[in-house]
Amino acid sequence: TYVVTENCIQCKFTDCVDVCPVDCFVEGPNFLAINPDECIDCTLCVAECPAEAIFAEDDVPADQQEFIALNARLAELWPVITSRKAALEDAEAMNGVPGKRDLLIE
Ligand code: SF4
Ligand code: F3S
Repeated sequence: TYVVTENCIQCKFTDCVDVCPVDCFVEGPNFLAINPDECIDCTLCVAECPAEAIFAEDDVPADQQEFIALNARLAELWPVITSRKAALEDAEAMNGVPGKRDLLIE
């Protein structure tokens, strides 16, 4: 499966959603997650993300391993998002800011 990681938080560009052939993204207030039961590993979303926040499960950085289980958990909580929408207002300013994990709103 593919995994959305920390740099999506408070950006939520949503370019990823438009290319996913199986609609496996779910949306929360300031983060998207991938449903690991639906993702078919097509890889298309990786290049679309302006925040470079999406990784193959095997390539998730060591300090972000918690996002693997987090995506799976949030996929059970949040509704599916199937089309792109405007990014969050401060998306450009928050792109690449370290230490965003605590900003995640469930
Ligand atoms: Fe969707 Fe493909 Fe990305 Fe999986 S890898 S979330 S199937 S676009
Ligand atoms: Fe997030 Fe990147 Fe998609 S910022 S919403 S994973 S395009």
